[in-house]
Amino acid sequence: MKTLIFNGSPRKNGNTMALINMLVDHLEGEHKRVDAFFCGIKPCIDCRYCWKNTGCAIKDGMTEIYDYIQECDNIVVASSLNFAEVTGPLLSVLSRLQTYYCAERFRGETPIPKQKRGGIILVGGGDGTVTCAQKTARLILRHMNMKEIAPDVVSHNTDNVNAIDDPEAMSGIMQLASFFNHK
Ligand SMILES: Cc1cc2nc3c(=O)[nH]c(=O)nc-3n(C[C@H](O)[C@H](O)[C@H](O)COP(=O)(O)O)c2cc1C
Repeated sequence: MKTLIFNGSPRKNGNTMALINMLVDHLEGEHKRVDAFFCGIKPCIDCRYCWKNTGCAIKDGMTEIYDYIQECDNIVVASSLNFAEVTGPLLSVLSRLQTYYCAERFRGETPIPKQKRGGIILVGGGDGTVTCAQKTARLILRHMNMKEIAPDVVSHNTDNVNAIDDPEAMSGIMQLASFFNHK
């Protein structure tokens, strides 16, 4: 089993990473993590190469991720909240999924034949709501042929309680691991 995790937090020992680490500790198979703040993957520049061609005109670290997206079984979008959204660098990396949208819309192709299972992990200090980030994360996962998405894991009070000490988030992570392990 292969799991791809997009991490939208810059904090290497932060709340998002703590939940990701807990997840991978309980996951079978292998995983690959994309750290949006540090991976150097460039944003989509809407050059429209993919309106007519397979793949992406930008050749960088995303090439390897495109391959892993094809072969993996599960994909997780994990992020801290910034202004009630997933973080900007995460959206920047994920803008490169536009090639899949264009493959379907303009070239009538099925860019990712293999169906996936999805997961969403969101953490926030406790301000506002998580609804917007949840919708965004779902929209992103749908670009990658999700068959099923597990219940979201949310820890939205990290100003007071670390995500790793939030019982609901911890049980959500265990359920997410089990969702992926027992398909
Ligand atoms: C620029 C910025 C914007 C933020 N906006 C929100 C927000 O809208 N809602 C919220 O609950 N927390 C917000 N936070 C707080 C972080 O989401 C929170 O501290 C989170 O636990 C950080 O996760 P991490 O430790 O995984 O990086 C914001 C933090 C920053 C730096």
